[in-house]
Amino acid sequence: MSELKRFTREEIQNRNSKQDAVFIIDNEVYNVTSFLDDHPGGHEVLLNVAGKDASEDFDDVGHSSDAKDLMKKYRIGELVDEDKVELKKRHFNWEEYNKENSKNSFISSWKFPVVLGLLMTVLYTYLFG
Ligand code: HEM
Repeated sequence: MSELKRFTREEIQNRNSKQDAVFIIDNEVYNVTSFLDDHPGGHEVLLNVAGKDASEDFDDVGHSSDAKDLMKKYRIGELVDEDKVELKKRHFNWEEYNKENSKNSFISSWKFPVVLGLLMTVLYTYLFG
């Protein structure tokens, strides 16, 4: 495998031909020239995004983990720090979810109906007992 390089977005923007097809996915730079004819999604989609940031298009397709493994083979480097973007969180964050949810946990947990039931019993006994 060749040495990994740092690229600017500007350097990549003209590399959009069949002879030299390079794009960016998640701040990493891929040279897919030799992959064009082998891509199961066809060479046209790859050429459409060559020279550009293909992160969203790549993600929209919902590529398999096999595809994500395969792309390592075509990685030639990454963007220089100044050209990097902050990556969107794509994976579901259970920690955040639980933290959010614990705010209303009293109402939604089993405790609320039990306490309500006890209160009603006491009230009923007091009024009609
Ligand atoms: C190095 C980068 C890429 C690799 C290694 C790759 C690999 C693959 C593989 C293995 C598949 C077969 C389905 C799967 O396993 O998910 C696939 C399908 C596909 N890919 Fe890619 N892909 C790359 C980049 C892209 C990009 C940038 C786009 C869009 C611009 C794209 C669009 C598609 C489409 C449309 C399909 C067909 C999906 C279908 O028929 O259901 N791919 N790709």
